[in-house]
Amino acid sequence: MADVRVNAEAPQNPAHTETRREDYRPPDWLVPETELRFTLGIEKTRVQSKLKVERNPEGAPGAPLLLNGDDLKPVGVWIDGARSDDWSMKGSDLLIPLDGDSHEIGIETEISPAANSKLMGLYASNGMLCTQCEAQGFRRITFFPDRPDVLSKYRVRMDADKAQFPILLTNGNPVATGEGDGRHWAEWEDPFPKPSYLFALVAGDLKANRDTFTSMSGRKVDLGIWVREADLPKTAHAMASLKQAMQWDEETYGREYDLDLFNIVAVSDFNMGAMENKGLNIFNSAYILADQDTATDVDFDNIARVVAHEYFHNWSGDRVTCRDWFQLSLKEGFTVFRDQSFSADIGSPAVKRIDDVRTLRMIQFQEDSGPLAHPVRPDSYIEISNFYTATIYNKGAELIRMMKTVLGPKKFRAGTDLYFERHDGEAATCDDFVKALEDASGVDLTHLKLWYSQAGTPHVTARLEQDGGKAKLHLGQIVPPTPGQPVKKPMAIPLKTALIGKASGAEIAPERLIMLEEAEQTVEFDNVGEAALLSINRSFSAPVVMDVERGDGELEKLAASDTDPFARYEAIQELMLRWLAATANGETVDSGAVLQAVGGTLRSNQLDPAFKAEAILPPSESLIGDRMAVIDPDAIHAAREQLRSAIGKELAGELSNAQLGGGQPGEDLSKEAKGARRLRTIALNLLAAGDPDKGAQLAKAQFDSADNMTDRQGALVVLASLDAPEREQALKAFYDRYEDDPLVIDKWFAVQASAQRADTVDQVQALAEHAKFAITNPNRLRSIAAAFGMNQWAFHDASGRGYRFLADLILKADKVNPQVAARMVPPFGRWRRFEEKRAAMMRAELERMLETPGLSKDLYEQLSKSLA
Ligand code: PHE
Ligand code: ZN
Repeated sequence: MADVRVNAEAPQNPAHTETRREDYRPPDWLVPETELRFTLGIEKTRVQSKLKVERNPEGAPGAPLLLNGDDLKPVGVWIDGARSDDWSMKGSDLLIPLDGDSHEIGIETEISPAANSKLMGLYASNGMLCTQCEAQGFRRITFFPDRPDVLSKYRVRMDADKAQFPILLTNGNPVATGEGDGRHWAEWEDPFPKPSYLFALVAGDLKANRDTFTSMSGRKVDLGIWVREADLPKTAHAMASLKQAMQWDEETYGREYDLDLFNIVAVSDFNMGAMENKGLNIFNSAYILADQDTATDVDFDNIARVVAHEYFHNWSGDRVTCRDWFQLSLKEGFTVFRDQSFSADIGSPAVKRIDDVRTLRMIQFQEDSGPLAHPVRPDSYIEISNFYTATIYNKGAELIRMMKTVLGPKKFRAGTDLYFERHDGEAATCDDFVKALEDASGVDLTHLKLWYSQAGTPHVTARLEQDGGKAKLHLGQIVPPTPGQPVKKPMAIPLKTALIGKASGAEIAPERLIMLEEAEQTVEFDNVGEAALLSINRSFSAPVVMDVERGDGELEKLAASDTDPFARYEAIQELMLRWLAATANGETVDSGAVLQAVGGTLRSNQLDPAFKAEAILPPSESLIGDRMAVIDPDAIHAAREQLRSAIGKELAGELSNAQLGGGQPGEDLSKEAKGARRLRTIALNLLAAGDPDKGAQLAKAQFDSADNMTDRQGALVVLASLDAPEREQALKAFYDRYEDDPLVIDKWFAVQASAQRADTVDQVQALAEHAKFAITNPNRLRSIAAAFGMNQWAFHDASGRGYRFLADLILKADKVNPQVAARMVPPFGRWRRFEEKRAAMMRAELERMLETPGLSKDLYEQLSKSLA
């Protein structure tokens, strides 16, 4: 087994070895049936399991039974009903030598949910008990072959104090209940065999928002969203979203729900967004609870998106699961693609696409160009939790989108139908998915499969050469080296392309799909009636970096006339990016074309406010950094401020109209009202950049009069970056009003950690000492750490204090919750891209962290790879 050898000085921890995709072997033993009995308690829970085990004919002959464990001690082991001492520990796993082909294994363990700060396995949150098993949490509950290709039918009995835990939930349907002596029990059965990572259990004092959904075949499904009683009024949007998602999956993919019961539980301590456990989804409360007073439009959209995502997993993940964790994108990339399509269908498709591409560029492109780059189907990992990444999720979704683009909607649907039918009840691979699409469509997709194995974002160059009625498009591609992949092959890149008339602004060559498959390729256009402008990678048909030879004048024209809304957005953004990168490089450049494009967009009466908002928002400081040979955060910040202020001054009239006219009744959640509110706050932001004093007054007025969280938080964000008395007033008013609402207090922390101020490092240091800061709560921790890590100018403060602060926080968090701590490392991974002094300080912090004794496997992997 290869070691990740990175830094000669770094301590090599022998326990932190790699798992490799090519080492996959089928399981030696299968577990067709699993019976679990829980005697539940916060401090102490007893788990008794009965496993029916059968030798797998495809496994190694005569192999012993290996059951994974993590932090577990067996209290007792039984083989075919008789207590046995014939077992041993192999590391943290349990090894039982067995003759024959079929046995019943009994195991008893005792665990402490209260002591479980990693929030993996069974843990306590706010007095309730809940589980998180993906990827390898089940082994913290009981010994089991904890791998996704071992599917088992579960029967689960929960026994608990009735007053403390009046509600008992697990996967499937209840089959029996009983009570006595202040205790009660419930027994449930899940008819669908599932891998252990989909097991879930919840016990607590919860109340449900109940509803029903009648499925396409007439099945009446009982729906429940379980929360603490006080939160019930905040569950309406999640419930409406769930029903919308169920309906959409029937109409769009022909997928029907398959149990009589579908439950969702919201918990306030959760490592990720949510989890698709069969029939019992468990959610971070941030993705369930919302009302007009406490949630922004973005929160509402995120709730719809995540509720749909987890629901969609019922087919893409649960009915068809993954053979091994290297296939994670099989379920995640596909399910993200499905939730993106859902959100586009229920909202505004163009704006959704812009939003998704922004996320991809901000997070995935950075990952793909740094030391943590990995393919959509990775070849190895040290800790699988570190691979729940934007590459697996978002680039994986782009890969599915490209396959759909190549096949067209009908053949794509035939392919997904075949995939679900062929692999129902199985643990499948990414290859199986592509094969199903190919078999159903008759189209060979081999050329796209390289996207699974080759990491790195392709860079595509394009130049249009016109000679009268003929035009030639010269294309080129380079895929940069990534860790372990120094030399790359050319990829298959589907580029939706059209020509736009320079004078007419019309589509003079209609959109066509060009497949760029070689390192260099030329494509011809005939009958080009007038001077043409190149509109390429329309709707972002391929997840690549485009470098198109086009003058500012051409971009300005496209910004006003491109027939594809995404391409139009791109033209405006490209104009801004060019200006910003040049200015940050110390060049003096004219801002006429940029202001023209932004002004024209704002004044247009065909464009809707949501699109205008996205288009005029200047690219983030980190995106500007991606354009520079060496990143200088101060120069980038200064350039962006200069542009924001110029827009604010030059277009004050247009912006004021948008800001004043953008007030919409808070209860109106139509896409029109959301769009107007989004534009309103972006306009406010730019106005404040042009005239900070006036901006502070306007923002305070918006803050005070807001009847919804979108306007209120939007104004607070603007104020947080200003030096004005209104800033402190608003922050205090916000805090006082929402003191008892943790999700809103998370916003209060994040707004300050994101502020564009010279003293943000001091502010976050103070926030980390605040009475309401809690390192044990992932949302609260992220409200500082994630927000600050993304705040380029503040994190990269020339003093290096930002680095030191985040590194200290990561080390502290690692002792509590390694999974969450490890996810805080990526901002450091970009160290090589920065000017020398900062690069050295970042590197020194990485080394200091790596040299700290007792690091988790999670953090060790992220740090050692970041230094490689
Ligand atoms: N599978 C979950 C999702 O995508 C994500 C998750 C992973 C949640 C690991 C918790 C732990 O929807
Ligand atoms: Zn998912």
